[in-house]
Amino acid sequence: MSADTIRPVEEALKMAERMFRVDDVMADIGSDRVAEYYDQSIGGYENVYHRSGAMHMALNSGDEFNAAGLLGQVRRCARALEGEKVTRILELGSGGGFNLIGMAARFPEAEIVGLDLMPGHVERARRRAEERGLSNVTVIARSFAELDEDLGEFDLIYSVEALCYATDLPDLFRKVAARLRPGGQFIVFDSFRGVPPAQLDDTMRKVLLLSEVGMAVNNGFHTVPAWRKALDAAGLRLEANGDYTDQIMPSLRRLYHLAAPFAGGVRKVAVKAMPPLLARNLLTGLLGVHAHAPVPGREDGRRALCYRGIFARKPLEG
Ligand SMILES: C[S@@+](CC[C@H](N)C(=O)[O-])C[C@H]1O[C@@H](n2cnc3c(N)ncnc32)[C@H](O)[C@@H]1O
Repeated sequence: MSADTIRPVEEALKMAERMFRVDDVMADIGSDRVAEYYDQSIGGYENVYHRSGAMHMALNSGDEFNAAGLLGQVRRCARALEGEKVTRILELGSGGGFNLIGMAARFPEAEIVGLDLMPGHVERARRRAEERGLSNVTVIARSFAELDEDLGEFDLIYSVEALCYATDLPDLFRKVAARLRPGGQFIVFDSFRGVPPAQLDDTMRKVLLLSEVGMAVNNGFHTVPAWRKALDAAGLRLEANGDYTDQIMPSLRRLYHLAAPFAGGVRKVAVKAMPPLLARNLLTGLLGVHAHAPVPGREDGRRALCYRGIFARKPLEG
């Protein structure tokens, strides 16, 4: 699976256009289809992406995808907690529970709470924790828009590839700040827009928008400046904003190679038989690798999408 077998961006887009009516897909921009997307895709994530329940990119330092990198985000969160007292941790959008289990193993004395919109994800995460005998994991079916007082206070609130679905960042971060103890941390790994669509040519604009809609990120990924502003407004202090895009490229190339065979031959027929929003995930597979590569012709090396690790903290009072 080498990088050089990936078709150039124009060809990848043509493959996508042969598989889907692009105008129909684009018509979803701005609509909320998150629950529908995950309802249709859960089997795809488990059977095709990774059986462990991981629904996020691996962080790999070499060129090759290595599933060990799926623990990369958990490892970085754990590193950020070194030397701190940790009794309660909350994951927003905990999906199939992969990160919760990684955290529970690293912090056996702490209570690890996961929260997810989809009851099916919650049920799977609970089952996985039970199978491992992890009694310190609790998983709740609830939107992260409802971070109410009953959840209590946390030393760390983290999220991996879920807050791209947040529609009101200032409100969400105010609630995050209210649920953190003074000195507590907020850590997020996700993709962010690196170049506004209006600054992209037609090809790259379609590549960006189709990659987003392919994952039901129908309002587009957030931007780092929007995040900074909302963190500031919530009184959360930004401590680090790391670019991890190169480390997810092996995952994106793997996704490309999983998706590309569906663009031709017998498998093309299979696309029509798939649940439609699961099928659309093939768009992200085909185009995500190009959306996260430096935009052709730009001298500043910026990418339409970049993958970031954002580390913030609620200041100590007084
Ligand atoms: C790409 S998956 C990532 C799952 C998990 N964090 C991981 O790394 O494997 C995104 C998750 O966010 C959840 N999600 C989306 N919108 C949400 C919301 N408003 N509240 C809670 N969870 C949400 C989805 O159900 C899904 O499980």
